Amino acid sequence: MAKPKRHIFVCTHDRPPGDPRGSCKQRGSEAVLDAMKGELYNNDLMPDVKATRSGCLGGCEQGVVMVVYPDNVWYRKVQVEDVPFLVEDHVMDDEVVERLLMDMGD
Ligand code: FES
Repeated sequence: MAKPKRHIFVCTHDRPPGDPRGSCKQRGSEAVLDAMKGELYNNDLMPDVKATRSGCLGGCEQGVVMVVYPDNVWYRKVQVEDVPFLVEDHVMDDEVVERLLMDMGD
């Protein structure tokens, strides 16, 4: 198996109903991950770019959270409709999608 050039991790962590932090799964992360895989496939970007589910990445209140490596770029509040922009701008054009950036305090 070849190493991917980029690896996108989408948090699909779940928590019980009523947990004050909520979870990315409750905010639709499975659909986001499916959309991401579909968009990568449709743009013939696999296997150079890989999308994988992850456990909690922190920042749960801002879910759906994802991180792109090796860029170390973190996105928050990602919805299915954002995925084509993330793939076209970030993955294909190397341009960070500023409006979805997570504030990492740096
Ligand atoms: S539940 Fe997704 S970042 Fe914590």
